[in-house]
Amino acid sequence: MGYATALHCHKCGRNYPLKAINLCTFCLNPLEVDYDYEAVARALSREKIANGPRSMWRYRELLPVDGEVVDIGTGFTPLVKASNLGQELGLKRLYIKNDCLNPTYSFKDRVVSVAITKAQEFGFDTVACASTGNLAASVAAHAAKVNTNAYVFVPSNTESGKLVGTAIYNPVLVMVEGSYDDVNRLCGKLAARYSWGFININLRPYYAEGSKTLAYEVAEQLGWRAPDCVVAPAASGLLFTRIWKGLNELSMLGLIGSVNTRMYVSQAAGSSPIVDAFAADSFHVHPVKPDTIAKSIAIGNPANGFYALQTVRQSNGGASAVTDEEIVIGMRLLAETEGIFAEAAGGVVIAALKKLVALGALKKDELIVAFITGAGPRTQDILSDIVQTSTIKPTLESFEEVLDIKA
Ligand SMILES: Cc1ncc(COP(=O)(O)O)c(C=O)c1O
Ligand SMILES: [Zn+2]
Repeated sequence: MGYATALHCHKCGRNYPLKAINLCTFCLNPLEVDYDYEAVARALSREKIANGPRSMWRYRELLPVDGEVVDIGTGFTPLVKASNLGQELGLKRLYIKNDCLNPTYSFKDRVVSVAITKAQEFGFDTVACASTGNLAASVAAHAAKVNTNAYVFVPSNTESGKLVGTAIYNPVLVMVEGSYDDVNRLCGKLAARYSWGFININLRPYYAEGSKTLAYEVAEQLGWRAPDCVVAPAASGLLFTRIWKGLNELSMLGLIGSVNTRMYVSQAAGSSPIVDAFAADSFHVHPVKPDTIAKSIAIGNPANGFYALQTVRQSNGGASAVTDEEIVIGMRLLAETEGIFAEAAGGVVIAALKKLVALGALKKDELIVAFITGAGPRTQDILSDIVQTSTIKPTLESFEEVLDIKA
């Protein structure tokens, strides 16, 4: 058995059993998993973790599962010392958490691995999700692994590479004419009508916990310490809040020292309701209509926006929004300096890093971790005009003539 004890409402504190429910029936706020941390502390040590599997499941005591887990090889991705990019930005201790290297090429495998495991525990014969693209691929892959039906819903303008990267696992792939927020609203209605395991609706409290493993891995890879600063992207804002929760859990368990990390949230300017609220010195997130090339994080009405803002405030961090042009520059900079081809969400993080350095928010000697959460090759459309080639005949003469070069 695992160490999760209950779900609780963050707002009003009411407790709920560990069932497939997402919202407090009293105040409609999101529910969150509680653990018996004293028992976890007794069961877990740095040594035990180090001897665990080289995957996110080395931290299973801090995840809300009971039995066998559904694992397609997720997590324990590289934490890269980004010396070249750091030099470019004037940062001496910059690290990239490269979560492009998950089985379906984004951090979503972490959240889905937990949620699918719960779907199996609860006995759902069908799983489903509302997705901007990455989640759909991950849900479809995990459903294939456990031979479960999957219905995945995406906006009809989802990138073709993401559609192919989902369809290959053979789910029922439904394109909805509308934005992600429309897809999400529809899925809310479907979840009330069909008794399916909706990965990011009725299974959301469990799904959320998967993102904590990003924080655990970073702390372990840094030699058991928290970074000084984190820069991470936000769509619903959930990932961002869970990196913070993960760091604080490790500290509470005595696995790392105190957490003085400043948390910086980044969004595309064409979809930045959380950053806008921060800039307005408010906790009230006004929904927007997204318009950006960073489609994977284009959520206009972020479910966890309030909590993301709370994380920024509690950690004395900040928020940064970047234009589509800056995103592409960020993607290219990361690729050209570190050899990492991230999708637009990664470009958002790199562009935000740059801005935060320019503002003096990030200092040159601080230990900074930038979270790159999805890979680039499935969203090539936004980069098509960077391709510059030379076409030559298969001869030495042609090579030297066209490239104007001599041996
Ligand atoms: C690549 C990538 N990064 C970050 C996020 C943000 O996730 P969250 O909704 O937890 O803020 C998403 C969400 O779809 C994503 O696809
Ligand atoms: Zn409540």
